Amino acid sequence: MSTKPDIKIFPSLLASDYGHFADDCKRCVDAGADGLHIDVMDGHFVPNLNFGPHVVEVVRKLVTVETNTHLMITQPDKYIDAFIDPGSDTLSIHVESEGDTSQTLNAIKAKGVKAGLVLNPDTELEAILPFADLADEILFMTVFPGFGGQKFIKEVMPKISELRSLYPMKDISVDGGLDRHTVLIAHEAGANMFHIGSGLFKPADMAAEMLYMREQMN
Ligand code: DX5
Ligand code: ZN
Repeated sequence: MSTKPDIKIFPSLLASDYGHFADDCKRCVDAGADGLHIDVMDGHFVPNLNFGPHVVEVVRKLVTVETNTHLMITQPDKYIDAFIDPGSDTLSIHVESEGDTSQTLNAIKAKGVKAGLVLNPDTELEAILPFADLADEILFMTVFPGFGGQKFIKEVMPKISELRSLYPMKDISVDGGLDRHTVLIAHEAGANMFHIGSGLFKPADMAAEMLYMREQMN
């Protein structure tokens, strides 16, 4: 039995070419993606608006890999069914959002899917610790959420290492500013799961880029 959690790479569709959305979803799978990351922004919790539940439905019909939906919305508890029913395999909520975090995580799990808990770069680790047992994935934002293509905030790394020492086998993920260099920094800190937008969509050969990342983390 492995003593380390598997490395998982999830391209973030925020960085895809929306004019060729279906092709880009399939391109990620062909490149070896473990799943697809779907960002949901409400223009309130973050200063940007984008995908709604119908995008989850579209992705679900296109691919069979896991779908990981990242809710950057103020009231996630009101949209659990809306985002799980069309086909999210993991639904992640921010600890900074409104509502009772335990209740929302439990409600997600009660629907038979995985629950993720996300924290912003300036949120203390202590904020998520009371809920860490409940969450299937803990996601550390390494940019302030809202936009792709921002610079990786390396100051988040000590929090990742601390959580890893407490949870050797949990899925600990990172989102924001990951590329072939920063992914190694996050892996070294203890993360095993990587949500990557521009770092995978910008390079000409996504498959080669993903392979390079996996080889370096081996
Ligand atoms: C940012 C989103 C990310 C975004 C990452 O708010 O949550 O998932 O797609 O994009 P990159 O990898 O370009 O920083
Ligand atoms: Zn995201």
